[in-house]
Amino acid sequence: MQDILVLYYSRHGATAQMAQLIARGIESVPGCAARIRTVPPVSAVCAATADSIPDDGPPYASLEDLQECAGLALGSPTRFGNMAAPLKYFIESTSRLWLSGTLAGKPAGVFTSTSSMHGGQETTLLAMMLPLLHHGMLVMGLPYTEPELLSTTSGGTPYGPSHTAGTDSKRPLTDAEKALCVALGKRLASVASRLQSD
Ligand SMILES: Cc1cc2nc3c(=O)[nH]c(=O)nc-3n(C[C@H](O)[C@H](O)[C@H](O)COP(=O)(O)O)c2cc1C
Repeated sequence: MQDILVLYYSRHGATAQMAQLIARGIESVPGCAARIRTVPPVSAVCAATADSIPDDGPPYASLEDLQECAGLALGSPTRFGNMAAPLKYFIESTSRLWLSGTLAGKPAGVFTSTSSMHGGQETTLLAMMLPLLHHGMLVMGLPYTEPELLSTTSGGTPYGPSHTAGTDSKRPLTDAEKALCVALGKRLASVASRLQSD
């Protein structure tokens, strides 16, 4: 059994819902399990730290989670066209893994949620890929053989799944957005399995 890490930050729950669907796609591949992890918010007071266990939801990610997993799905809400600070803060703690090349050769994909349709989904997804490329990960998007990429009227991009949550962040995921989340999970897990058997 190999784990694929689904690591995300979510303030209002949209990115968290996408993470669950990606996990469903991962677990549809025999021999693969999803390991879901989040990161704590960052504080303006540098000395303040969050409790080591979250009040609810998945546990906080550790470097061991990244080390042990065969692949990674990384998700963040869009913040000014970029990933959210808590996730970036966590990524900046991974220098030890970068130095040892621990993530090199592992498959990875990214996902995001925005308020507005043209509020920066693609820029966020591309920005999230950059640290993964520095780590030597095999960054994957979604192919147009996924029919929802052509039919979607909301989120869903070749760079990775996305969701348009609306200004109140309450708009439910559309069927196309959901299908593309599941597709990314499945794709990551299938590639991780094939790499393992090489
Ligand atoms: C500081 C901040 C910046 C944001 N920047 C953008 C943005 O650039 N484009 C956009 O469409 N939405 C933006 N949003 C809205 C979030 O991306 C959106 O509500 C997202 O769906 C939240 O995901 P979550 O439910 O996982 O927290 C921003 C929200 C915050 C708090």
